[in-house]
Amino acid sequence: PSAGLLAGRRVIVTSGPTHEPIDPVRYIANRSSGKQGHAIAKAALAAGASVTLVTGPVNLPDPPGASCIHVETAREMYRAVEAALPADIFVGAAAVADWRAEESAPEKIKKDPDQRPALTLVENPDILAAVARRGGGRPALVVGFAAETENLIDNAKAKLARKGCDMIIANSVRSEAGTFGGERNKVAVVTAAGVDPWPELTKGEIGERLIVALSKLLPGAAT
Ligand code: C5P
Repeated sequence: PSAGLLAGRRVIVTSGPTHEPIDPVRYIANRSSGKQGHAIAKAALAAGASVTLVTGPVNLPDPPGASCIHVETAREMYRAVEAALPADIFVGAAAVADWRAEESAPEKIKKDPDQRPALTLVENPDILAAVARRGGGRPALVVGFAAETENLIDNAKAKLARKGCDMIIANSVRSEAGTFGGERNKVAVVTAAGVDPWPELTKGEIGERLIVALSKLLPGAAT
């Protein structure tokens, strides 16, 4: 049903977690399987788009036909996204670590009961906000995710404004929702026009439905 909807369009999707090294064997990360981001990239490909998928470490195959860039850290992800621009649509589905260790130790930190290691964290670049606030070359549609454990819709509305993006896909990650690593997801789509709760669907179905919704919002789309 979505065939050709994004023909001639360029789409960039981020997916998966980022890994921020503490030393050569340890890292800080968020939980993320990459399933939702990869499903969105596949749906965009099925709709005829030219797709760049910038992915952190995941156990998923590269979607055939996408240009896949594999990264570890938020800063690498940011550079890869910048290099992949311009695009018509940017979807930030990655669970980017908000913080990284200020310094990553060159050798494995040894266990020493008298000296507990202290981590100084510094903020990572906010890729979604940076793309949404670009002066020149901003994608027509910038989409982010809000994974929250409480006050989902209020948080998503605040995030829409704070990040400057056009759409936030809000999903509850309370443990009973089974979102992490699961095949299904229940989301609400938050735009300036309002809140649209979707039924529980597979992550593949959410990808397809999102691509159809975005194709209608693109400037020049038939209404
Ligand atoms: O602020 P928060 O992390 O909750 O926002 C989530 C959204 O922002 C997701 O779309 C995520 O991909 C994006 N994000 C980002 N870079 C960051 C943090 C979050 O692109 N450093």
